[in-house]
Amino acid sequence: MSNVKKGIAVVAAVAVVGVVAAFAYAKQATATKDIGPGAENLATPSAQLIEKGRYLAVAADCVACHTAPKGQPFAGGLSMATPIGAIHSSNITPDKATGIGNYSLNDFDRAVRHGIAQSGDTLYPAMPYPSYAKVTDDDMRALYAYFMHGVQPVSKPNLGHDIAWPLSINWPLAIWRKTYAPAVEPLVLSKYQGEALARGAYLVQGLGHCGACHTPRASTMQELAQDESNPAYLSGGPVIDGWLAVNLRSNPAGGLGRWTEQDIIDTLSKARNAHSAVIGTPMADVVAHSTQEMSPEDLKAIAVYLKSLTPGPDEKARYAVSDVTAKALKAGHDDTRGAQLYLDNCAACHRSDATSNAKVFPALAGNPSVLSDDPTSLIRLVLAGSSLPSTKGAPSALGMPGFAWRLSDDEAAQLVTFVRQSWGNQASAADAGQVAKIRKLVDAEAKH
Ligand code: HEC
Ligand code: HEC
Ligand code: HEC
Repeated sequence: MSNVKKGIAVVAAVAVVGVVAAFAYAKQATATKDIGPGAENLATPSAQLIEKGRYLAVAADCVACHTAPKGQPFAGGLSMATPIGAIHSSNITPDKATGIGNYSLNDFDRAVRHGIAQSGDTLYPAMPYPSYAKVTDDDMRALYAYFMHGVQPVSKPNLGHDIAWPLSINWPLAIWRKTYAPAVEPLVLSKYQGEALARGAYLVQGLGHCGACHTPRASTMQELAQDESNPAYLSGGPVIDGWLAVNLRSNPAGGLGRWTEQDIIDTLSKARNAHSAVIGTPMADVVAHSTQEMSPEDLKAIAVYLKSLTPGPDEKARYAVSDVTAKALKAGHDDTRGAQLYLDNCAACHRSDATSNAKVFPALAGNPSVLSDDPTSLIRLVLAGSSLPSTKGAPSALGMPGFAWRLSDDEAAQLVTFVRQSWGNQASAADAGQVAKIRKLVDAEAKH
């Protein structure tokens, strides 16, 4: 054999051994600790335990992912896009044939906190088990009592996933899980000073899985951080359906640095506060299904925890109160194309001073969604508009129209740049290429 052939044979042998070893590693069952039934008989749980589980399921927003559009609650079938294809959430009603009616407490726990289905398959991390790993044993028992006794069984077979072979093979996913979501680690509450801070940390990191959207991810898809010990935690997430999950740390421009605890509580209960509004469906759904139903004490705890986060790294945007733009517009100096477009399209609602308008129209000055380093959300909003969800605390569902039909890519870019660089806002410019990309997404959505 020539040396080259020998070399190829050795590489091939090493590759085969590597794949076999990886396969064996993936197939090794993950040992999980049985959590035991606890104080109550879970076959006949008390009404209090079922109610506690219902509340926890709201805080964890299980319904958001496990309900299809117009479908029955928890019956699954919601399609979620991933880079490798669409996956579908499962039926988690207690139906024995098609749902989780045959799941024991430990089967349920293995799925929710460890990411392992009853079949032994690893679940896609679209199910946020890396966050739920922090849920306590007691809360798991209450959740189980609720799903077995408080939820209506619905007969609806699971849809499976639209992922082509070989990416559909499950065992590499087990390696991902073992690497990036290795163990159930109860949160060490004693490291947080005071009851509210500890409760807030538990709700945000665990049940609320806020980091699943608000923490940036690595190229291998795991969140860069699971708690505040790393400044990447909640520092602004990936773009979801064209909306950027804003930085929730105390950065003074694109973060919540200038928000009060009450501002955060108002946003989580009413989707708006005195100067800002939630835009886009991902966060509107969180408020509508989950946070608006949470107790005042729990909302306060979340606000206390978020306000404890130090500013995240590398923020380029700045904000300093300024009346230069407002004065110029009032005096009729609209000499840039951006300023003209603003007056023609936006000022009727947002006014020339861009401050919040009677809690109806949010402020554009000093607004985190405007000042994010990445202008994606603002471009998407200008093209396609958005409407606030109706909440119990603020029932009117106000909307902003989209302007895709009357602004070219270049005009939208100039307008967005004007908004990001006026009234004291100092953020980077947007360009027509960015607008063109987002216009494609918006057009594709409109066709659906
Ligand atoms: C962000 C979306 C999301 C949220 C929130 C979510 N799930 Fe899931 N869940 C999924 C998806 C997607 C799957 C299917 C994953 C797969 O098949 O690989 C799943 C799977 C499951 C399974 C496994 C079912 C089976 O067939 O074995 C259980 C049990 C489950 N979820 C329970 C819950 C509970 C309880 C909550 C709330 C505490 C919850 N989920 C919240 C997306 C979510
Ligand atoms: C008919 C009134 C109306 C017009 C015209 C209008 N907006 Fe809005 N705008 C709203 C409402 C209502 C909201 C809140 C929507 C939501 O929260 O989903 C909003 C939200 C916003 C936000 C998000 C603020 C935040 O707190 O996140 C920005 C930025 C914005 N508008 C910019 C513009 C720009 C730029 C234009 C012109 C192209 C414009 N608006 C035109 C009513 C309007
Ligand atoms: C499904 C993804 C998702 C989850 C889960 C999520 N968020 Fe958001 N959130 C978003 C997106 C996207 C935005 C950007 C919307 C905007 O700019 O108004 C946002 C915006 C926000 C804002 C700013 C709203 C404003 O008016 O500008 C706050 C505060 C917030 N989220 C808090 C939370 C908290 C606390 C949690 C956990 C309980 C959470 N989010 C969970 C996606 C999510």
